[in-house]
Amino acid sequence: MPSEPFKFDFIVLGSGIAGLSYALNVARFGRVAIVTKKNRAESNTNYAQGGIAAVTSKEDSFEMHVRDTVEAGAGLCRDDVVRKIVEEGPARVNELIDLGMKFSERVGSSSESAPELDLGREGGHSKRRILHAKDVTGREIESALLQAIARQPNIQIFENHFAIDLITSKKIGLPGSNRCLGVYVLDKPAGVVKTFAAPVVLLATGGCGKVYLFTTNPDIATGDGVAMAYRAGAAVANMEFIQFHPTCLFHPKAKSFLISEAVRGEGGVLRTFAGAEFMEQYHPLASLAPRDVVARAIDTEMKKSGSPHVWLDITTKPARFIIERFPNIYETCQRYGIDMSKEPIPVVPAAHYQCGGIKTTLDGETGIEGLYAVGEVACTGLHGANRLASNSLLEALVCAHRAAKHGLATPHANLPQQLPHWESGTATDADEMVVVSHNWDEIRRLMWDYVGIVRTNKRLLRAQSRIKNLQAEIQEYYWGFTVTSDLLELRNIATVAELIIASALQRPESRGLHHNLDFPSADPAWAQRDTILSRHPKPLTHR
Ligand code: FAD
Ligand code: SIN
Repeated sequence: MPSEPFKFDFIVLGSGIAGLSYALNVARFGRVAIVTKKNRAESNTNYAQGGIAAVTSKEDSFEMHVRDTVEAGAGLCRDDVVRKIVEEGPARVNELIDLGMKFSERVGSSSESAPELDLGREGGHSKRRILHAKDVTGREIESALLQAIARQPNIQIFENHFAIDLITSKKIGLPGSNRCLGVYVLDKPAGVVKTFAAPVVLLATGGCGKVYLFTTNPDIATGDGVAMAYRAGAAVANMEFIQFHPTCLFHPKAKSFLISEAVRGEGGVLRTFAGAEFMEQYHPLASLAPRDVVARAIDTEMKKSGSPHVWLDITTKPARFIIERFPNIYETCQRYGIDMSKEPIPVVPAAHYQCGGIKTTLDGETGIEGLYAVGEVACTGLHGANRLASNSLLEALVCAHRAAKHGLATPHANLPQQLPHWESGTATDADEMVVVSHNWDEIRRLMWDYVGIVRTNKRLLRAQSRIKNLQAEIQEYYWGFTVTSDLLELRNIATVAELIIASALQRPESRGLHHNLDFPSADPAWAQRDTILSRHPKPLTHR
């Protein structure tokens, strides 16, 4: 390894579907560093269950997929973006298959002709169109991509390396428009901060479920990319639209285990704690209504009855079918003493997906030259106010491909010879670590209680004032002590919490996932209007 700064042609932050797909697309054209904060497979991608939405059946059409996406998005999707992503989806999915990804095949499909892929169904989809690998689609995708990466000599993966902050020309006082030059990275095992430099940097750091007390997301999802980009001056859009998945397993010992919407797609129904079906009262699609509707209905039913959870019941299906179609969910439930083929599963809603993010074009441009963002970290306009199930793996694949193409076709200015080294405090005080863990817990509970599925202005304002105080404390701590990943994540979740609250306060209506009792209906004047936050006086806007 050369001495610092470590120079590459492309730096990719994150090793989920967005980062790995992008790296594979650019590796033929230069040296690529993939920086990832835990082991290479640890990502939201790795836990995806339901699958990828893409039009592959004769009974389906681009028109129908576009219509379902736009309908779920509640008046906030960008139609041109939806259409392009939907139309480019099948080609990108075929590339994934060429790399070695094996989707489940339809039972009874002939082995002589090309086997037919099995198509799942999820909430808000009018057709079966979800390609899946049983109920472990994400694990299979991650593994196929990592195997392809291993065959590329131009790609180097830095595991347990935590991206702290972007290095921009503005930050280091260079004249001209703001461009990204690299990133400061904490090498966790060595405890040192390294400087990485490249003319093109991709943020593919995923979402922010860990901002909430209850989430389906793994520990990596702390909104680092959004926080870094915001600090660097990029525009962040629509952060009020946090998607709560209706069915997370409710069990004192289960941490963040999702029960896929595909279970409802195969006939599972939601029941109150007392055992009654209730979704027909809320939506004609009943248990398969779009997620915002289902999560709110569960929240209402739980509040009405004071019950700790509702039930998801798929006991009408034969055990053989359940075990074959949902082996991972079946086994996990068994481990917690629940036989889902014989009894209903206790479930609650939990924070699942960030529909907003760094505002980007379809090609992943962020408004800072040389800085791209793709995947859950980005807000392209596909999801609007509520993401249609299984559209996010699709978006990551399509946009990674487009961002790679765009970056390769764009001339980039030379990097400066030297970049300033990282400077931080030097103090370490183990006693003070209690402050970090206390603040972590406080933010996550505060967000759950005050900025959850149903909001009011009073609660949002209360949350805003608490976050302000916590941030002052974190800032003081941040500059005084050596950085650790816990402290860095705390700083990032505080920033993301601030952005979610500020966006929610900016939108005086209820739309999609943002439901405010003070403004209970959608305001037509706010359709097609994004909430944009930026430290920069002229943020990127393209609506
Ligand atoms: P991720 O896959 O989350 O990858 C982010 C990467 O960035 C990770 O490698 C992480 O370690 C790294 N990282 C983060 N911060 C830093 C940092 N500071 N420094 C270095 N590295 C960093 N979507 C669907 O379309 N279909 C599904 O069936 C589906 N099921 C889901 C099930 C679950 C349980 C969950 C949690 C999500 C599901 N989703 C699904 C959503 C989907 O999985 C994600 O939106 C998608 O995988 C995000 O991909 P990504 O590449 O953008 O980010
Ligand atoms: C699920 O399997 O229910 C998750 C699908 C998604 O979040 O898109």
